[in-house]
Amino acid sequence: MANTSSFTPLELMRLPLVSALRDEFVGRPLSSLRTPALLIDRVAFKENCAQMGAKVDALGLRFRAHIKTHKTPEGTRLQVAGGARSLVTSTMPEVWGVLEAGIEVDDILYSLPISSDRMEDVNAAQEKAGRTVIRVMVDNAEQIAHLAAAAKRLGRRAPWSVFIKVDGGGRRAGAPPRSAQMDALLQAVKAEKAVEVYGFYSHFGHSYAARSLDQAGEYYAGEIACVNDAAGRARELGLGGDWVLSVGATPTAHAAALGAATPGGLNGTLELHAGCYCLNDLQQAATGLVREGGLALSVLATVVGKYAERGEVLTDCGALAVSKDQGPTPGFGRVVSKGHEGWSLGRVSQEHGVLVKGEGAREIEIGEKVRIVPQHACLACACHPWFYIVAGGGDEVVDVWVPWKGW
Ligand SMILES: Cc1ncc(COP(=O)(O)O)c(C=O)c1O
Repeated sequence: MANTSSFTPLELMRLPLVSALRDEFVGRPLSSLRTPALLIDRVAFKENCAQMGAKVDALGLRFRAHIKTHKTPEGTRLQVAGGARSLVTSTMPEVWGVLEAGIEVDDILYSLPISSDRMEDVNAAQEKAGRTVIRVMVDNAEQIAHLAAAAKRLGRRAPWSVFIKVDGGGRRAGAPPRSAQMDALLQAVKAEKAVEVYGFYSHFGHSYAARSLDQAGEYYAGEIACVNDAAGRARELGLGGDWVLSVGATPTAHAAALGAATPGGLNGTLELHAGCYCLNDLQQAATGLVREGGLALSVLATVVGKYAERGEVLTDCGALAVSKDQGPTPGFGRVVSKGHEGWSLGRVSQEHGVLVKGEGAREIEIGEKVRIVPQHACLACACHPWFYIVAGGGDEVVDVWVPWKGW
């Protein structure tokens, strides 16, 4: 019996749910599931992790796995088994979940720029984490002042270990490497003993626009140049350290794994990070860098209406099953069920999803079930309370994974 005394309320709710769902669903045919149902092929997931890990290892680089796509202990374990010794999370329940599951890694990065209301959480997580270091992200000098005040308030013994977030053109989070914001941040860190720079971090979300290895390789080179430049600026301002330069998004990590050039002579040790690579989706497929058999995620849907004159059918797979994410492939998803290729999810509203017939596609009848690959794995997973696990394309449930929800 696990010692539940240290579990968070969310975990205390999740654990009985996991057992009940496994009792109910393991061994059942997919045709018996209530839809929409999110399916993960564990064999493809495991292979995606193993291949990424082996390739990054062969390049002599470190690998940090983001777990926000699936947010599950089972998925995290497969990423760790694939060679990830470090993790990235985007919520505290992911951090707590990893610690409560006893998954051993060197460090966990809580990757949203740190705000005062999360510092106590991170500090408490660190006390529970033992030798696993919990790192935080900063991109503004004001956060350094908040971290210093929190260190005093919480009686923190070790300095906060921070990654400096660098904006390489994505304009989401981060300070541009050569900017007044970056200089102010570096000066603040230099003056503050309660904070220690572990490295420089870039997430090149705009690399999703790549359509070939060459293009993804250019984003990869640009991403390395941007963190390296930020670290160079830190040295110019008199900061010293043996820093990690962490770069990645699934397209740039795929580019590195598939042979894009990795420069040497950098201002730190290069590390790759990625999250979506374990599942993949239509956006990743559009880059042309996903291996055959690498799409591990689909949503099972039921056809509930038919409109022969307009060449469309209605499914129960709306925006609440796949999200409203779009990409270079038209629509919100693509049907991959054998015999029903050629249909795409053309329009979605809350619970309605309209499938549009492509040229040469076979008719689909009311009551049939189809598997749809969504545009983006992260938000599609977030739509579902739990995931049905299949193995090697099989049509029976072999496990149920329940994600760490909440913030
Ligand atoms: C901070 C951070 N790092 C890494 C990633 C992983 O990117 P991807 O899912 O493209 O691999 C994300 C995704 O949004 C992110 O926000």
